[in-house]
Formats: sequence, structure tokens, C-alpha cells
Amino acid sequence: MHKETVLVVGGSSGMGLSLARSLLADGCAVVVAGRSSERLARARAVLADVGDVRTVAADITREEDVIGLFGECGPLDHIVSTAADIAGAYELLPDLQLAAARKVFDSKFFGPLLLAKHGACRLAPHGSITFTSGIAAYRPAPRGSVVAGVNGALESLAYALAVELAPIRVNVVSPGWVDTPIWRHVAGDEAPARLAAMAEKLPVGRIGRPDDIADGIRFLMRNGYATGSVLHLDGGHRLV
Ligand SMILES: NC(=O)c1ccc[n+]([C@@H]2O[C@H](COP(=O)([O-])OP(=O)(O)OC[C@H]3O[C@@H](n4cnc5c(N)ncnc54)[C@H](OP(=O)(O)O)[C@@H]3O)[C@@H](O)[C@H]2O)c1
Repeated sequence: MHKETVLVVGGSSGMGLSLARSLLADGCAVVVAGRSSERLARARAVLADVGDVRTVAADITREEDVIGLFGECGPLDHIVSTAADIAGAYELLPDLQLAAARKVFDSKFFGPLLLAKHGACRLAPHGSITFTSGIAAYRPAPRGSVVAGVNGALESLAYALAVELAPIRVNVVSPGWVDTPIWRHVAGDEAPARLAAMAEKLPVGRIGRPDDIADGIRFLMRNGYATGSVLHLDGGHRLV
């Protein structure tokens, strides 16, 4: 049976790390990419026992890094990006620095665009690309303007790519609040209290786990009828 190879950009932390673990457990070969070599080394240490993992240091906001990344990957079945650099971007407008806002768009919009530009030709015809948007686009809140904007833009990009890159399928998973290291940038020390309060409001009565989102990405990768889809995994957050 064909052993699938999957590139997980952002696989050194949070949802991406959970996805890498579950794909390895399925028997896939997994390439994990991210910027920090230390973080990649930690992920490799955690994942090596599970299966066939390689790591590549790459910043997807840099086109030369993306070209180099695909050079190291070889042929692929699926590309996933959970990458986001939102440091400093959760601010009210008077305090918002354009440089921080641009970093969000570089990592969550232009990075995925470059992955599609240089990665599509590496994918098998049955292959897929999955990006990660988020609840901020649907339940916006003060301080979240840039993240709301990039999530919406990313979904529109995926619709267009689903048409342009067909038969390669292009989809998006839109997570609600999930307990991952990204929360230090969203709420700092208040993160545990904010997450606990949201858990009480949500119809499912709890915050998301990285595995919840990894499951959804695996579904989008493997369902041959899913393209141009946005899969909302938010515990009902859009409804409350
Ligand atoms: N957690 C939530 O509540 C939540 C809610 C809605 C949406 N989301 C979205 O879900 C996705 C995954 O979030 P998460 O919570 O799993 O975040 P996370 O734990 O902070 O992981 C983000 C990953 O992206 C990598 N990364 C960041 N910038 C990169 C770049 N320029 N090039 C390559 N890799 C890069 C990071 O590694 P390096 O820093 O080493 O590069 C890290 O591996 C993000 O798009 C986030 O916006 C999260």
C-alpha cells in the first residue's frame, strides 16, 4: 500500500504537533517544518518513537525558504499549514503596530500562498492542501481585528486555489479556542482564566484540544469530495 507523505508546517507546536503525531500513528511519513530549530528538535524527540518523521527549519514568509523546503521534501501527498505568528497583533487600534499586523499576514496568508505556489507541483493528483483560519473571523472581538481579517482572507484564498489547482483539493479548518502555546500571545497570564470562562459558555462545555483539530484536518485530507470547504471545529462558538 502507498505510504503517504505529508508536510506539516507548524508541526512543532499545538495543533500541528498533534496532527504530526496522529499521521505518524496512521503510518504516514511526516515532514515537520517551522522556524525554530530548538522547537523542531523537541518535536523530533517527542515524535521519533511514533514513526517516520523528518524536520526542516523554514520560515514560510520567505520565498527562498519555501523553495528550499520543497527541495528537501520530495514528492508529497498532502500539505498542511497551521503556522501563525501573531505576536504583538492582539491590540486595540491605537496601539497596533503595522509591523506586527504584517507578520500575521505574512505567516497566515502569504506563507500559505507560497506553499501553494511552490508545493502544488510536488503533490500527487489526489493530493490536498489544508490551511488553518479561525473563529476570530466569525466572532470578532476588540484587539482581534488583524486576526479576523487574515482568517477571512485565507478562506477566500482557499476557495480560489481550489478552482485554480484542481484536481488538487484545497480546504480550510477553522478552529475555535484551543488550549495551545499560542495563547501566551493572545492573553498572556490571563489565558487560563479566559479559556476556563469560554469553556462555560460553549455548547460543548469545554475548550478545544489540539487533537480535535488534527482529526478535522485528517478528514479534509482524506475526503476526496472535500474542496473549497471550511470545516468549523469550534465547540459551537459561532452560535453563542
Ligand atoms: N489555539 C487557538 O485557540 C486558535 C484558535 C483559532 C485559530 N487558531 C489558528 O490555528 C493555527 C495553529 O495554532 P496553534 O494554536 O497550534 O499555534 P502554535 O502552538 O503557536 O503553533 C504555531 C506553529 O507555527 C509555526 N510557525 C509560526 N510562524 C511560522 C513561519 N513564519 N514559518 C514556519 N512556521 C511558523 C510555529 O513554529 P516557530 O515559531 O518555531 O516557527 C509553530 O510550530 C494558527 O493558524 C492559529 O492562528 C488557533
